[in-house]
Amino acid sequence: MEETWSDIAGWYDDLIRAGSGPHETAVGCLLELLPSSLAGQAVVDVGCGQGLATRALAAAGAARVVGVDSSPEMVALARGHATPPSVEYIVDDAQSLASLESGGFDGATCQLALMDIPDLDATLGALCRVLRPGGWFVFVIGHPCFLVPDARPTEAADGTPELVVRGYFDERFWRSANPQGVRRVGNHHRTLATYLNALVRAGLSVEEVAEPVATGRLGAERPLYREVPMFFAARTRRPR
Ligand SMILES: C[S@@+](CC[C@H](N)C(=O)[O-])C[C@H]1O[C@@H](n2cnc3c(N)ncnc32)[C@H](O)[C@@H]1O
Repeated sequence: MEETWSDIAGWYDDLIRAGSGPHETAVGCLLELLPSSLAGQAVVDVGCGQGLATRALAAAGAARVVGVDSSPEMVALARGHATPPSVEYIVDDAQSLASLESGGFDGATCQLALMDIPDLDATLGALCRVLRPGGWFVFVIGHPCFLVPDARPTEAADGTPELVVRGYFDERFWRSANPQGVRRVGNHHRTLATYLNALVRAGLSVEEVAEPVATGRLGAERPLYREVPMFFAARTRRPR
């Protein structure tokens, strides 16, 4: 049976509760890219899952944070975490965000979910609609150049981890064969150019990008990501 996000929601929550190097690195990267102050700001966190980034946005000082996910199971788990009253969760599709008001948010985030959503243009269009003019959008994705379906980790003669990449140009939906991997539920491989051109089509301008080097838990557990980045991230902005 092919698993869905709802099927593995409990497993995913346990993974993050136990401490996950990739997620710690991703949320650290997201926080680094945020505007210098979130005071007074309303932020929507799209593809929020069990609320890791949503809670981090509230802790960073946002006045209102709305976490949105299409999986009711994920949203139920998110609601089970301790959260301040400034946080709410809703079940909705990122490709339309039909339950959110136009122009109602100062900022938006999407951590590790753009790869999971089929229609990238529709998602960025919906995000732009709910942002006020001049609003910001920060995202973190699995690095499109290195988390390629056919990429194969290997090792140099001196023991340094290496990655053999092929099939980069073959954009497709794929599922990892790793039964303990997040990507077993499937995700969309797209080239970096596809992501950047979608931002251009949506009218979002890129202000800053990041490719975090693995440190801490991720660096210790997955030394490959001290050689090549696991994530690509950016802060973008809707024009005024
Ligand atoms: C890898 S998880 C990331 C969750 C969270 N942002 C984090 O960093 O832990 C991807 C999430 O995207 C959600 N998702 C997938 N398709 C979606 C859609 N069309 N609309 C909203 N959420 C979606 C999934 O249900 C899942 O919770």
